[in-house]
Amino acid sequence: MAGQFDGKVALVTGAGGGIGRATALAFAQQGAKVVAADITVEGGEETVRQIKDSGGDATFVGTDVTKAAEVEAMVNKAVDSYGRLDFAHNNAGTEGALATTVDYPEDVWNRVLAINLTAVWLGMKYEIPRMLEQGGGAIVNTASILGLVGFPTTPAYTASKHGVVGLTKVAALENATQGIRVNAVCPGWIETPMVMERGVAAGANREVYDQIANMHPVKRLGKAEEIAQVVVWLCSDAASFVTGQPITVDGAYTAQ
Ligand SMILES: NC(=O)c1ccc[n+]([C@@H]2O[C@H](COP(=O)([O-])OP(=O)(O)OC[C@H]3O[C@@H](n4cnc5c(N)ncnc54)[C@H](O)[C@@H]3O)[C@@H](O)[C@H]2O)c1
Repeated sequence: MAGQFDGKVALVTGAGGGIGRATALAFAQQGAKVVAADITVEGGEETVRQIKDSGGDATFVGTDVTKAAEVEAMVNKAVDSYGRLDFAHNNAGTEGALATTVDYPEDVWNRVLAINLTAVWLGMKYEIPRMLEQGGGAIVNTASILGLVGFPTTPAYTASKHGVVGLTKVAALENATQGIRVNAVCPGWIETPMVMERGVAAGANREVYDQIANMHPVKRLGKAEEIAQVVVWLCSDAASFVTGQPITVDGAYTAQ
């Protein structure tokens, strides 16, 4: 595949499904070689298969993004496989439980913070030095509309995503003169397994689906591909003056 990212290498975590798979495919469509990381082997290998089937180049790396040693190995694998690292989409995440601040289980709180926030920090901890060696790069962290506003019964998720937005700003400021741009993407509700199959399971309940759709002024949920296109744009030269920003892609959810 030929495109604006010919010769570039993109790393995507949580690439085994949903937004991560869509981003991995979108990077490949632009000509990038893709390192697809996920804790789920089947999903990650399927993403690689889809990229290869459409003429691209990709490698799966099984990674639990909450483990520092595995994140370091993931970044090393990207460089060993393709010689460089230009883009990183730190995207793996989990929805956690739906429970109030009072009732939220402590073990779930710790797991959500580890996957959604600590893992994004670990990703950048190992990605940024490699990009500095090369003289530049672009990072996009997946936050959420819940990185900007609250929603009852999601204390851990909302806290973790607000943390991602703050962390993104710090990393952007630290690297602003080093050729590395760091942004966050803040999706509204998107039709992925997280929303359609788990959590609120909107795929199996038309009423729930319609309720969620109606929370967005555009009266629908988003598609993973609509997030992927924004991630690709944020990594492209077209976004060369954009850094340190939470970019909202939410059908006007947060405009209300
Ligand atoms: N779907 C939405 O409505 C929505 C909205 C806003 C933000 N997000 C965020 O987008 C990101 C992607 O979510 P999605 O909707 O595609 O969900 P998803 O469940 O479809 O995909 C998440 C992926 O992350 C992987 N993952 C989970 N824990 C991991 C770990 N410890 N190590 C490595 N991989 C791990 C899963 O295996 C899965 O492939 C998440 O950060 C999520 O919080 C989703």
